[in-house]
Amino acid sequence: METVKSIEDRRSIRNYTDKKISEDIVKDILNCGRLAPSAKNRQPWYFVVAKNEIKDKIADMMIDYSINADDTIESARIGHKSSVNPTANIIKQAPILILVFREKNDNWIIGDNLSIGACVQNMCLRATDLGLGTLWIRDIVYVAEDVAEMLNHSDLELNCAVSLGYPNESPKMRPRKNLEDIMEWA
Ligand SMILES: Cc1cc2nc3c(=O)[nH]c(=O)nc-3n(C[C@H](O)[C@H](O)[C@H](O)COP(=O)(O)O)c2cc1C
Repeated sequence: METVKSIEDRRSIRNYTDKKISEDIVKDILNCGRLAPSAKNRQPWYFVVAKNEIKDKIADMMIDYSINADDTIESARIGHKSSVNPTANIIKQAPILILVFREKNDNWIIGDNLSIGACVQNMCLRATDLGLGTLWIRDIVYVAEDVAEMLNHSDLELNCAVSLGYPNESPKMRPRKNLEDIMEWA
């Protein structure tokens, strides 16, 4: 598939069929993440592929958070919390959840976070190529420490996650700003 076609065809998919995904396909997608550029070629990522009970347990941790979180915390107050419960239910429905961890290193936070963005986008585009759907997930950050501890990876920071499965919906392209409104020549 042409790169531009996978860029145009990719959508956030929030509804999946229960068709199984082979390990080879998961590895193919992770491999495209691995090939992403990274600041100083640090390759600051580490992946855990969660399925079945572990995946559902993570979703339950998010649901618990969404019910019990202290609404005086700034991120909850400005509404970031409101999508945690819906996102948790998408995770339950998806066959696979790729957890994307970042090596903890305070000297490289910006570069490493940018690098992880490149890595995740590579994975989402490759999944599109292969006829799979993805959802890039930030809402997991509220339970990041608990998830890392459960998986014996407290040495790493959970940066985000990607749910993966065969799509059971085909949403239209979501609105985008016009190019003329977001650029200028200098
Ligand atoms: C860094 C990042 C984090 C996101 N986190 C979530 C999330 O936690 N839950 C969710 O439902 N969608 C999440 N999304 C999906 C966005 O809502 C979606 O990309 C946006 O609305 C545009 O839709 P599209 O991906 O179909 O083009 C996230 C997207 C990005 C890039």
